[in-house]
Amino acid sequence: MKTIVVSNRKGGSAKTTTAVNLATELAKKYSVLLIDFDTQGHASIGVGSAPLEEGGAHSIFFGKTLSENFVPTVLDKLTLAPAHALFDVYEYSDLRGVLKNRFKKENIADFFDYCVIDTAPTFDALLKNSLEVADVVVIPFVPHHLGVVAVGQMVRAVYQMSTQMGANIKHVGMLPVMFNPHINEHKESLQKVEGAFGKEKLFQPIGTDIRLAQMFESGQPIVLTEKRTKGMKDYTRFCKELLKRIN
Ligand SMILES: Nc1ncnc2c1ncn2[C@@H]1O[C@H](COP(=O)(O)OP(=O)(O)OP(=O)(O)O)[C@@H](O)[C@H]1O
Ligand SMILES: [Mg+2]
Repeated sequence: MKTIVVSNRKGGSAKTTTAVNLATELAKKYSVLLIDFDTQGHASIGVGSAPLEEGGAHSIFFGKTLSENFVPTVLDKLTLAPAHALFDVYEYSDLRGVLKNRFKKENIADFFDYCVIDTAPTFDALLKNSLEVADVVVIPFVPHHLGVVAVGQMVRAVYQMSTQMGANIKHVGMLPVMFNPHINEHKESLQKVEGAFGKEKLFQPIGTDIRLAQMFESGQPIVLTEKRTKGMKDYTRFCKELLKRIN
């Protein structure tokens, strides 16, 4: 099993949109676990479910197993561990290694080909737990100045986790989202990220597509829609590009 963490401390950078469409695209072929680790529960909503007020993925922090929280989704091969909407990370003093321990104890890797984790826009114990199990980190970013700054901050956080906490992250990639090729700032931002981290780290961008926003209302990820929209094509291409890089 390969674990792909979708992360960026900056809010509204299409983490959830990316996690949901990546997980569903992968689940057309592979067995996939989507963990909604953001208490907002938007990834759960994106696959036709909802965050829970009892149980959910975060209940591993108060002694539950991860797998007892699994629920089915819009796709046969896609399993969801929904968010626990009321979980408060500040009520607990030491949450280190809990998800890693659950993965090991429950042999999660034996049941899935891929695990995709959607994370909150914070650098806290939940993000650290995610990075501890990550093989791959995808950083979606909106291509403007603060978006580029946030990518740098996120890369530093990943580096810190690898050196100080012994995380074994093998690939980090940046995904430009809501990209408009006619806007100079967007093109310049891509060049900056490419210059700072290398061309091989940057994925082909995802364009703006209102249907990506509407998918949350229908609980139907865009990669499952009949009509081939721009957003769907972009995420299908991204998924292929990612698999090529990490396999
Ligand atoms: N390519 C796109 N085109 C148009 N709208 C998009 C696109 N990607 C994401 N959006 C919309 O932008 C908003 C933010 O996206 P999303 O919720 O995925 O970001 P996020 O990084 O998960 O946010 P948060 O930090 O709150 O978790 C949502 O309304 C989403 O529908
Ligand atoms: Mg989100």
